[in-house]
Amino acid sequence: MSPAAQVKRRSALRKASFVVVANRLPVDRDTGPDGTVQWRKSPGGLVTALEPVMRRNGGAWIGWHGAPDEKLPPFQYDGLELVPVHLTTAEIEEYYEGFSNATLWPLYHDVVAHPEFHREWWDAYVTVNRRFAERAAKAAARDAVVWVQDYQLQLVPKMLRKLRPDLRIGFFLHIPFPPTELFQQLPWRRQILEGLLGADLVGFQLPGAAQNFIRLVRQRVGHKTHRETVYLPDGRSVLAKAYPISIDAAEFEELARKPETTARAEDIRRSLGNPKHVLLGIDRLDYTKGLRQRLRAFGELIADGEVDVDDAVFIQVATPSRERVDQYRILRDDIDRLVGRINGDVGRIGQQPITYLHASYPRSEMAALYRAADVMVVTPLRDGMNLVAKEYVACQYDDKGALVLSEFAGAAAELKQAYQVNPYDINGTKSALLQAMRAGDRENSRRMKAMRKQVNDNDIDHWASNFLRELMADRDLHEKQPRPV
Ligand code: G6P
Repeated sequence: MSPAAQVKRRSALRKASFVVVANRLPVDRDTGPDGTVQWRKSPGGLVTALEPVMRRNGGAWIGWHGAPDEKLPPFQYDGLELVPVHLTTAEIEEYYEGFSNATLWPLYHDVVAHPEFHREWWDAYVTVNRRFAERAAKAAARDAVVWVQDYQLQLVPKMLRKLRPDLRIGFFLHIPFPPTELFQQLPWRRQILEGLLGADLVGFQLPGAAQNFIRLVRQRVGHKTHRETVYLPDGRSVLAKAYPISIDAAEFEELARKPETTARAEDIRRSLGNPKHVLLGIDRLDYTKGLRQRLRAFGELIADGEVDVDDAVFIQVATPSRERVDQYRILRDDIDRLVGRINGDVGRIGQQPITYLHASYPRSEMAALYRAADVMVVTPLRDGMNLVAKEYVACQYDDKGALVLSEFAGAAAELKQAYQVNPYDINGTKSALLQAMRAGDRENSRRMKAMRKQVNDNDIDHWASNFLRELMADRDLHEKQPRPV
């Protein structure tokens, strides 16, 4: 056997004492023109959040590598052990685009789009969740800690516990958990709740989401509950609590302070004609993000004469996402049309009020955009957390800039000094944008200072260590607490 094959084989057999299970691996593949394959760290909230934790703890990451019908062996990337899970073309359609992103995603986000219920999609969700559970069961060492991530894998905790009762299993939901009235629509509601109850600890972004879950478990599954604990008939107990996710604030600040970032930010402003106000939105192109309402609000401010087209530019970056799902295609066309209409209606030669970019950028460019912006506009209709809001704050090391933030983003619970808006209220959004643009430096700096303290004191380390500490806390002690009768 060649040395390379030996390394591969050894890494495939090594058992990990810390295992992350997520729909995606934290890397994307790049195939060069000459056919050489290179993996790159992928962008995105989930990866941003977990990568530093993995690096410090070591361990294996189990996830889909993003391509159809391809089985890849486990491999190492930058010191991480990666275990690819294959998905067939049909499974991508039914498990990923279907049940995960056309059933659960809209249902869990306040049904801002209509969720579709199809039995074949559910069957694929069960099959793929089982595959992830089996892979995790194989990769984990005895008594290992396994941390399952997000809505695509809600059945994994129960399946994994059945295969490996020795494991300590955590689950974290990155998106909102809906109120009971909406969750009840799901034909497979009981199976999802029971799937999650396979974990020792179920984490949510907000306390309200944990309460929704506990209430549903009591009503739908009939288990006893007391505050944050569910008591199962087999004597086990499950804790459901909020752990608001965050970012590596120090890393963003470091990036923001680089001379290259400052130069690039100046470049960006210059190429826009050095306007008085640069407003910025950076989102995945998703119907939950409130792009329509936000752009309309800005367009109306110019049409009303409240903002001069020579004074303000709105940069909207929309990262391509889930492009094969119908609702996302419709949204893309809608936004293309809306931007065209607003620029056509209120723009002038050489003055386009909205600079719209349908693209994804590396972190360095994001940091430069954050530094170039006077007002960051984060106005989702519903969002589990929204890390862009926190990234912007982390980059404002000089306490400048203003954040306009939706009340319906999880981040609103922490970033109280933002200009908070109800994103459905277009007049309210217009007022908040004006207020943020017109506030003096002192007012904005007072607000930014407070938000920066919040983000710096509660960064990604804090999130991960709180969750893992609780997950590994002495269960015997916990179980000796008196049970409700
Ligand atoms: C959200 C979800 C993640 C997901 C990400 C990107 O942040 O919570 O689980 O990975 O969106 O979406 P995608 O469908 O491209 O993985």
